Amino acid sequence: MKPIIAPSLLSADFAYLAKDIEMVNKSEADWLHIDIMDGVFVPNISFGFPVLKYVAELTEKPLDVHLMIVNPEKFIPEVKALGAHTMNVHFEACTHLHRVVQQIRDAGMHPAVTLNPATPVALLKDIIKDVYMVLLMSVNPGFGGQKFIEHTVEKVRELRQLIDSTGAQTLIEVDGGVNLETGYKLVEAGADALVAGNSVFGAANPQEMIHQLKNL
Ligand code: DX5
Ligand code: ZN
Repeated sequence: MKPIIAPSLLSADFAYLAKDIEMVNKSEADWLHIDIMDGVFVPNISFGFPVLKYVAELTEKPLDVHLMIVNPEKFIPEVKALGAHTMNVHFEACTHLHRVVQQIRDAGMHPAVTLNPATPVALLKDIIKDVYMVLLMSVNPGFGGQKFIEHTVEKVRELRQLIDSTGAQTLIEVDGGVNLETGYKLVEAGADALVAGNSVFGAANPQEMIHQLKNL
């Protein structure tokens, strides 16, 4: 099966967002990945809901929203108002993760749980069947253009085993440093979805790069 490709808007040209969104619309991308940061959970701030309102209006792809913020449950209505397909919250940011997952589902979105590079896959054992997707960070979150952490490939294999052994239908997405080389290894290890920022928006031909990632 071909991987789901989600270009990350964080690497787009913020002065010409409409132009880059139009490129994604015309491409073979499946989703548009949106990174929301608060300067607390991660040492950076990206964009907020007033900007994303216009992004949501322009994009024709389902939105894969990745919240790198503390207390993400506070913003479920705002994420829902964007028309988001998936709402990714960090395991490390949710004391009552099971409740947050239910709240996201009740709001009519697909709940996804994100793990930082140092958080073990095994911690998801008791929630794996309740989540639509697990997002494995392959860089420390906060910035685009970082180097891929190779150990993520092993984490994908381990997560694949956990999912298959429980009969869950959960998808595996990977985010950070994904390019043709690392993307190939991830898909081979069992990843279903790839987020790609710099490798797409930094390419000479971004649409062609999306096509190549789609056909790894
Ligand atoms: C990083 C973000 C990523 C980022 C990926 O914290 O979660 O989505 O945009 O960018 P690249 O693909 O350049 O590593
Ligand atoms: Zn992300």
